[in-house]
Amino acid sequence: MSAVTSPKNGREIVRLENAWKVYQMGTEDVKALQGVNVMFEKGEFWAIMGPSGSGKSTMMNVLGCLDRLSSGAYYLDGKDVSQLDDDALSDLRLRYLGFIFQSFNLIPQLTVQRNIELPLYYLGWDAVRSGQRATELAEQVGLGDRLGHRPAELSGGQMQRVAIARALTNDPQIIFADEPTGNLDSATGIQIMDVLKKLNEQGKTIITVTHEPDIAAYAQKRLHMIDGNIDRIEEEARGMGAAHGPGFHTLRDAAKGTLSKAEGTALPRGDAKRSA
Ligand SMILES: Nc1ncnc2c1ncn2[C@@H]1O[C@H](COP(=O)(O)OP(=O)(O)OP(=O)(O)O)[C@@H](O)[C@H]1O
Ligand SMILES: [Mg+2]
Repeated sequence: MSAVTSPKNGREIVRLENAWKVYQMGTEDVKALQGVNVMFEKGEFWAIMGPSGSGKSTMMNVLGCLDRLSSGAYYLDGKDVSQLDDDALSDLRLRYLGFIFQSFNLIPQLTVQRNIELPLYYLGWDAVRSGQRATELAEQVGLGDRLGHRPAELSGGQMQRVAIARALTNDPQIIFADEPTGNLDSATGIQIMDVLKKLNEQGKTIITVTHEPDIAAYAQKRLHMIDGNIDRIEEEARGMGAAHGPGFHTLRDAAKGTLSKAEGTALPRGDAKRSA
């Protein structure tokens, strides 16, 4: 493990310093992250937004220790993890991080219970304890009566709740969610965000990528990316937590008038590129 460095403040959990990610495609360099500087604090709920190709997933993969920077530093809970090898990164993921993906990433052959238990198997938990933990977590996400089902026998929202339960097995410090509602209808998406909101209220740091303003409205901070860097960060006004959820923009807009006109263009701009 690299040397411990002092965090910027006692609440820092994630910090990127001059973070670059360059993919080599034949003779061409694709600069997916271009000198990003950002700090996230413990217990925050962030939404990362921006046009397709702006580097959102790249940033999530780096933050989630699924990928490494080309240059720059990544401090996770005060430790520089940018130079760790694959084994050390996978150990970090297993112990401290939780992941939720757009396509759920469940194992089709395994039951709900076994899918949830999987990380515990790698952590060396015995079958009895793993079973108990999986049952508790399934109940927490409202799937206590679906333990024996396989993913194909579940709805999309239920599959994503299994993925959330699986992400919680190791009691992660941070939950990363890359477009967690991207494959769900909007009502189901809202249910999933309600689960994430509860987890945030219990103290989990949540970092999610989304294209949808209704989904981003759940976050306290919204980071807009453009061309591999941060375009702007919007912060929720203090004391407006109760306004989380649909309508939050309007409420906050009315209350604070802090929303820039530009925000309204962020998504259409992304979508326009996406569908191009
Ligand atoms: N493995 C890779 N190899 C080469 N280029 C890549 C790779 N992954 C991403 N890129 C490129 O890096 C840039 C950023 O991609 P990224 O997936 O981070 O975008 P994104 O903001 O998540 O987009 P989307 O909204 O479409 O998911 C894009 O130009 C993409 O083509
Ligand atoms: Mg992406």
